[in-house]
Amino acid sequence: MKKIAVYGAGGFGREVKMLIDQINELGTQHSKWEFAGFYDDGLEKGLIVNGFPVLGGVHDLNEIQEDTDIVIAVGNPITKKNIIGKINNQRVHYPVLIHPNVLIGKDDVSVGDGSIICAGCIITVNIKIGKHVILNLSCTVGHDTVINDYCSFMPSVNISGEVRLSQCVYVGTGAQIINRADIGEETIVGMGAVVSKSLPAKCTAVGIPAKPIKFN
Ligand SMILES: CC(C)(COP(=O)(O)OP(=O)(O)OC[C@H]1O[C@@H](n2cnc3c(N)ncnc32)[C@H](O)[C@@H]1OP(=O)(O)O)[C@@H](O)C(=O)NCCC(=O)NCCS
Repeated sequence: MKKIAVYGAGGFGREVKMLIDQINELGTQHSKWEFAGFYDDGLEKGLIVNGFPVLGGVHDLNEIQEDTDIVIAVGNPITKKNIIGKINNQRVHYPVLIHPNVLIGKDDVSVGDGSIICAGCIITVNIKIGKHVILNLSCTVGHDTVINDYCSFMPSVNISGEVRLSQCVYVGTGAQIINRADIGEETIVGMGAVVSKSLPAKCTAVGIPAKPIKFN
């Protein structure tokens, strides 16, 4: 059995451990993993989280001697990108995690390394999902949408067809995105927002319809 560990022992990291358990119990297409523990630079090495140890931080990840799958369970896209940029160990591999109940189209759908697709998501056809993308619980992604690397979607986000999301976009819980919208790099969409037209890069947009309230 291949070893797997989760970077990030916060709430989402513990949920990702549950996702791994459910893939191990219910999955058909995935190999089974042996869960080794968590990595987290903000916690003391050796601390026990839900019965498993914190094995260290990025420094310790860079010292791993055996092939290990690592899942980066960090919601903030820029923090996530920075952590991945500091990992330079050839033994570290980034698996794709897809909950067994996710409905995912067979026609021209691709999912990049390190992406996490949680229970209840529906992903239709002709969709490109980049690397290290998080689709949290019950998100939907419509046809011909492109999601670039490091984007994070909180629970129950609905992305319509032909939407284009640049790198490192964060979308808060329950937000809705109209078809054909383009969302610029590093933009943050607030919880519950309705994105009814394209949004520029590096802004925070909230409300119905979503409007930028600041540039980051
Ligand atoms: C949009 C968001 C990122 C803004 O956070 P922030 O930069 O710290 O901004 P602030 O909290 O200072 O809010 C700035 C203003 O926007 C308003 N605002 C913040 N979030 C809002 C939202 N989602 N919808 C409408 N208005 C919002 C605030 O009330 C405040 O208004 P004011 O200036 O009139 O007082 C944050 O509120 C948000 O929605 N995050 C997503 C949370 C989420 O989905 N979590 C999922 C966990 S699984």
